[in-house]
Amino acid sequence: MSQVIADLFRRITCGVYVIGVAADSRYNAFTAAWVMPVSFNPLLLALSINPRHSSYELLTQGKSFSVNVLSRQQLDLARHFGGPATIDKLASVAWRKGRNGTPLLIDALAWFECGLTGECPAGDHVLALGRVIDGNLLKPDAAPLTYRETGDMDGAAAIFPDRFS
Ligand SMILES: Cc1cc2nc3c(=O)[nH]c(=O)nc-3n(C[C@H](O)[C@H](O)[C@H](O)COP(=O)(O)O)c2cc1C
Repeated sequence: MSQVIADLFRRITCGVYVIGVAADSRYNAFTAAWVMPVSFNPLLLALSINPRHSSYELLTQGKSFSVNVLSRQQLDLARHFGGPATIDKLASVAWRKGRNGTPLLIDALAWFECGLTGECPAGDHVLALGRVIDGNLLKPDAAPLTYRETGDMDGAAAIFPDRFS
């Protein structure tokens, strides 16, 4: 466990997103901070996902994902979707299907829809590349939630190594 390394990594500024996935009328969503734009043309976003998450199976089957941007007022949603899919996490939240079937949160600050174009192993995660096929800014005046504002909600301090190697 390393609180020191977790604190250091919190200085890399990330947003907080709810990633929606869908396949064969099954839907799920999870909180992610490791999301970034990686290309202007074509428009590409990269998502780093732990392949042990239940969402990963739906991502690889459905070959698409949505990125719902959370605002500073939505820490509760970050916590809700940061939990495992032992419950239907989408049942208590208003959402609709996007063009590619992935969940779009009605109350998001903004959303993107992506088609999965490739995957690359990244240590204990997988980098998923998504081509942005649609997007919408719903709350132009709202400030996006940052990862640092979530504190240790994701339990990262217990996961980071305790020294550099
Ligand atoms: C603030 C926060 C950020 C997170 N960022 C990521 C991330 O970037 N990638 C990832 O794979 N999991 C991330 N997680 C963990 C997942 O949200 C969590 O393990 C979730 O239970 C996975 O859900 P699922 O099993 O329903 O797919 C984050 C959690 C929180 C609370």
